[in-house]
Amino acid sequence: MTICKKLYMALGLAAALGLISSAGVLASDEKNAAPTAEEMQSWGATEVVSQEQVDSMFSHKTHVVELDLDCDSCHPDIFQKKIGSAAANGDYNMAALEEGQYCGACHDGDTAFGVKDPESCVTCHGSDMKQPKTIVFSEPVKAVTFNHELHTEDLGLECSSCHNDLFKMKMGNAETKPEEFTMEALYAGKYCGACHNGDDAFASDTKCTTCHIGVKGFERLFGSAESEKEGGEH
Ligand code: HEC
Ligand code: HEC
Ligand code: HEC
Ligand code: HEC
Ligand code: HEC
Ligand code: HEC
Repeated sequence: MTICKKLYMALGLAAALGLISSAGVLASDEKNAAPTAEEMQSWGATEVVSQEQVDSMFSHKTHVVELDLDCDSCHPDIFQKKIGSAAANGDYNMAALEEGQYCGACHDGDTAFGVKDPESCVTCHGSDMKQPKTIVFSEPVKAVTFNHELHTEDLGLECSSCHNDLFKMKMGNAETKPEEFTMEALYAGKYCGACHNGDDAFASDTKCTTCHIGVKGFERLFGSAESEKEGGEH
């Protein structure tokens, strides 16, 4: 059975049980119109991908069809029916989840698996969330060093001070846009420049070689120029 058919069935059942008070639950303005196949497809059969997140982590299909949760167990109290609404609030992060907001309303280790368990990270993030120790950027120029461990463990910065506004939690992501990942952007307060502004940390227009370790430094770390794409070491 296709996802789509399952969805029709789930919806039909939910409607029959009076769980969906009106078909206007869908995003459209026409309040009482029945959802079209296209509308259902748009939220149900595909995964919801948070705008702020590299990986998709929430699936309507799992929660609505497989787990049989009603729309109003999430809408509108926990989430609005608009992708990106939670992200726009500015507090859509692990700290909020741990306090029982957003996904944390259920993912508390009781109703559903919790968010603090180190085994859980991979289920939502699709990654074991192992922090890279040192990252060496090579686009657009070789070779800029960033010590992740130093920034988190020694300097004690919160994960949310960089993720996901300044940097996505995916190695190499910033480098996919070399035309944007530039000194000009740093001077404008983006990327590293959000802190390296002469106020919160040394300014980006000073101490060039603290960040730029040069081709020699790169070769010392990675052996040869061929390992150009080896972004970092774990
Ligand atoms: C377990 C929680 C949960 C349940 C249950 C749930 N949703 Fe959602 N829904 C979400 C989340 C999370 C988003 C994304 C919100 C955000 O990004 O701020 C979303 C977004 C949406 C959107 C916006 C899609 C878009 O493209 O902008 C619609 C429409 C929607 N849901 C409809 C429904 C309907 C109809 C049901 C019941 C059949 C339902 N949802 C059940 C969590 C849920
Ligand atoms: C139930 C799903 C879920 C689980 C489990 C989960 N996360 Fe998250 N995580 C989220 C959501 C949702 C966000 C915020 C959405 C976004 O940034 O796009 C987030 C954001 C983050 C961020 C960005 C900044 C911050 O501090 O919020 C980090 C870092 C993070 N998670 C680490 C982890 C680690 C480490 C684990 C395992 C111990 C984990 N997460 C488990 C859903 C989850
Ligand atoms: C209304 C309660 C509720 C909310 C809110 C909720 N979930 Fe879930 N979720 C569940 C339940 C129940 C399960 C299945 C039980 C379990 O595995 O512990 C589940 C399972 C999952 C799974 C594993 C199944 C799969 O899809 O692979 C993931 C991942 C997940 N949720 C992510 C999220 C994220 C991300 C959010 C927030 C955007 C969220 N959930 C919000 C109730 C909820
Ligand atoms: C000072 C900024 C900063 C802080 C604070 C920070 N990170 Fe990162 N993190 C980065 C950068 C930069 C990258 C690489 C992104 C890129 O290449 O685009 C990264 C990448 C990651 C990755 C991706 C690893 C991979 O293999 O793809 C994970 C996971 C991660 N960070 C987790 C965390 C966690 C958990 C915390 C909090 C304990 C944290 N980060 C705090 C800057 C930071
Ligand atoms: C959230 C704030 C923040 C962001 C974002 C940030 N840094 Fe830092 N960084 C600091 C602070 C604070 C210090 C320590 C104070 C100082 O040295 O001025 C520091 C120190 C450093 C140092 C000197 C210590 C060392 O590792 O030798 C380097 C190099 C560095 N940062 C590079 C970077 C690079 C490259 C980026 C972007 C990929 C970046 N930082 C992003 C806050 C930040
Ligand atoms: C806080 C760390 C940091 C400092 C300090 C820094 N840079 Fe950069 N620089 C970066 C990062 C990050 C990139 C983008 C990644 C890459 O090119 O590998 C970059 C890229 C560049 C680029 C290529 C992109 C562009 O803007 O044309 C040049 C050239 C450059 N830096 C020159 C300099 C010079 C000259 C200085 C000193 C006046 C300096 N940088 C100081 C982090 C820094």
